[in-house]
Amino acid sequence: MIDEATIRDRLHPDSLPDLLVRLGFHDDDAVEAVAAADRVRRRRSDLAVVARSASLLAEGVGIFRPTAPDPWQDLPEGREDLALLALLASVDEVRAEHARRRIPDAISWGSLADLGQQVSVNRLTHGRFGLDTYGWMRTAWSGGLMWLGRLEFVPKPSASGWVLDTHIPASGPLTPESVDAAFAAAAPFFARHFPDCPVTAFACTSWLLDPTIADLLPASSNLVQFQRRWTLAGSGYRSDESVIYFAFNVRSDPEDPIDPRTLTARTSLQRAVVDHLVAGGHWSAWSGTAPLPDPTPTPDAPDA
Ligand SMILES: CC(C)(COP(=O)(O)OP(=O)(O)OC[C@H]1O[C@@H](n2cnc3c(N)ncnc32)[C@H](O)[C@@H]1OP(=O)(O)O)[C@@H](O)C(=O)NCCC(=O)NCCS
Repeated sequence: MIDEATIRDRLHPDSLPDLLVRLGFHDDDAVEAVAAADRVRRRRSDLAVVARSASLLAEGVGIFRPTAPDPWQDLPEGREDLALLALLASVDEVRAEHARRRIPDAISWGSLADLGQQVSVNRLTHGRFGLDTYGWMRTAWSGGLMWLGRLEFVPKPSASGWVLDTHIPASGPLTPESVDAAFAAAAPFFARHFPDCPVTAFACTSWLLDPTIADLLPASSNLVQFQRRWTLAGSGYRSDESVIYFAFNVRSDPEDPIDPRTLTARTSLQRAVVDHLVAGGHWSAWSGTAPLPDPTPTPDAPDA
């Protein structure tokens, strides 16, 4: 249980800026985060919500299964600011889990910097400070999400045992070399630091795996080369909104679909997305698995 006095301390304007730098916040977002924390530190009712969510986040640390408690169960509608502050106020608990697993410090902070990344994508999407992806952040705050080179990985239970669920942050091109390097680093890293989750394969669920992409982009593109690594399972589920979000940084509502002709397409992917939707097509998120790389004996290799 993280009480309100502890939350006040952890969100204090003297200590927060250093933490925000480590979490990858851009300056404009850091200034607004400190101001939001200052407001909430003075409001008893908001403080209680932050304490409750931070405590639930802390309870979920170390649990990589859907049985982890929902930290947002008492979050009032539209209060993503409180979710963000709860994440900031529970960093110590996630760090303690990383320390227990002997995660190198740079990888620990680098992985938690997913928060700064999400806040900056929020600004790109909405033109303002916020965190509309706070739902996803409970995964990052489980203590299992590791940002290793180009990709992020987190252990996830599957029907056949543990898999390494793979996430692709919006952080530059997805070159085949960068994916090879991340895959090669991930398997020994998790074997060493997460021996309680012996993984058997990589897994991914994403719009990036929609086979339509391979029909519309050249075989040499990073996206198509990334797709080739995965063996798809089942059939995708319709998700025009996720493609519009990740390709245009625009939020749309399935109940009130956006007119694709209103999207400004500058890249070949964006043009392909718009043309496909205008022609009456749809986009889907697909799930797939990829094999772990063969272990290469490198006794002197430094820890990933
Ligand atoms: C995954 C990602 C890094 C791939 O980018 P990439 O390495 O540039 O991909 P490619 O080389 O295959 O790009 C081919 C073309 O599509 C464009 N493109 C690729 N991803 C794009 C995106 N998300 N938005 C707009 N255009 C994109 C490229 O700019 C390039 O355009 P061009 O031919 O006009 O120069 C990129 O899509 C991205 O950052 N996505 C956001 C994160 C995400 O979707 N994660 C998965 C969540 S489930």
